[in-house]
Amino acid sequence: MKLQNRNFIGGEWVRAGDGREFDVVDPATLETITRVADSGAADARAALDAAAAAFPAWRERSGRERAQVLKKWNALILQNQEALAQVISREQGKPLAEARGEVAYGASYVEWFAEEATRTHGDVIPEPVRGKKLLAVKEPVGVVAAITPWNFPLAMIARKLAPALAAGCTVVAKPAEDTPLTALALVALAQEAGFPAGAINIVSASRERTPEVVDVWLDDARVRKITFTGSTPVGKHLARASAGTLKKLSLELGGNAPFIVFEDADLDAAVEGLMVSKFRNGGQTCVCPNRVYVHEAVHGRFVDKLAARVAPLKVGPATDAASQIGPMINARAVDKIERHVRDAIAKGAKAVAGGRRLEGNYYAPTVLVDATPQMELSCEETFGPVVPVFRFASEEEVVRLANDTPFGLASYFYTRDAARIWRVADALETGIVGINEGALAAEAAPFGGVKESGYGREGSRHGLDDYLHVKYLCQGNLK
Ligand code: SIN
Repeated sequence: MKLQNRNFIGGEWVRAGDGREFDVVDPATLETITRVADSGAADARAALDAAAAAFPAWRERSGRERAQVLKKWNALILQNQEALAQVISREQGKPLAEARGEVAYGASYVEWFAEEATRTHGDVIPEPVRGKKLLAVKEPVGVVAAITPWNFPLAMIARKLAPALAAGCTVVAKPAEDTPLTALALVALAQEAGFPAGAINIVSASRERTPEVVDVWLDDARVRKITFTGSTPVGKHLARASAGTLKKLSLELGGNAPFIVFEDADLDAAVEGLMVSKFRNGGQTCVCPNRVYVHEAVHGRFVDKLAARVAPLKVGPATDAASQIGPMINARAVDKIERHVRDAIAKGAKAVAGGRRLEGNYYAPTVLVDATPQMELSCEETFGPVVPVFRFASEEEVVRLANDTPFGLASYFYTRDAARIWRVADALETGIVGINEGALAAEAAPFGGVKESGYGREGSRHGLDDYLHVKYLCQGNLK
């Protein structure tokens, strides 16, 4: 697959207007892979002009016509699974097997929303008075600006672009500065699939120039929706800054997921669930458990089993097929992990596996016991391969601790007690709850948070509604 390194605007691959570029760095070797466009305000405006011009014709197409293009895109993504996985691993660092999985995961959203494109049903409302007909119909919101993260460089942009395009919206997108190449490759396949010029526009920008690009989209009334996955502070900024033109927002923000192991849990299943949910992408997902609460009666046995699974995890580059944990995305990410572990150990935690920085962008998979709420890692998302284990004594206590955070994206718990399952699932203040299950991601399910983890849902039929508004039609004088 030829790497694209230019912007895609109005159906053309173009350099940044002022010719600026920045390096894309392989997090495993710290070598430059290539250079891509470092876009500024003029490029952002050109992308928006193209999306606004393409909107009337794209929204006029029937859902079925839009679905056909999305289905072709899905087929092309799957045909290019291996090549896309190589790009993901190269720029983001995740092991190849996981990268292949991410391609399939991203494609599943494209397929799902191709199918949903034909189901934007409205309502026929029984008239409250005779002589009137009342209808609620759904319409695309307009031009959407998608700002996407580095941790799933393909899946996160796919699950924003696919519903937007299925709904009849056109898009301007900016991928994360660390991982623009996968997004550009995905858009090249969209071009091949036959989306009309201007339906999808993408510009890359360095960390320094990103605000210039995003400000153009925030200020311009033609952008009717912003969809963002990333940190809570940036999400709050987008909410404030888009208020001037009252844009619709979908914000998938930070988490601080609790993972609770009750005394009656199947401990082997809980350990496996934790391995899957915590070490996916080296611990760099918003739904990774960040705080593991284990009942005091099973604490020792659980920790022994967990440490025995974590210690042998193989750390290394994606080029080594045996690697299970790749590099972290950049040195800043490793600095944060190191800070969290150091703070925890200074406050009394003990490492029973790992606990140290390795060379380059690597960090050893780590289990810490005797974690307490006073430690930084209990309040902030670590975003790395570190499992802090806290003890608890009662259901009431652990539910209170689990909810004692401004965040509310995902939570997990393991128990065999049916009544407790419903009690705890009701009590947890998160948008997603894993019950005796660590793998939650699915295109058919609504993904999103509550509290300061944001609002809006991705995937499922709710994921399409986020790109539609409801128009009420009232016809009168029918007699
Ligand atoms: C995320 O980390 O934001 C997304 C993870 C997922 O889709 O499971």
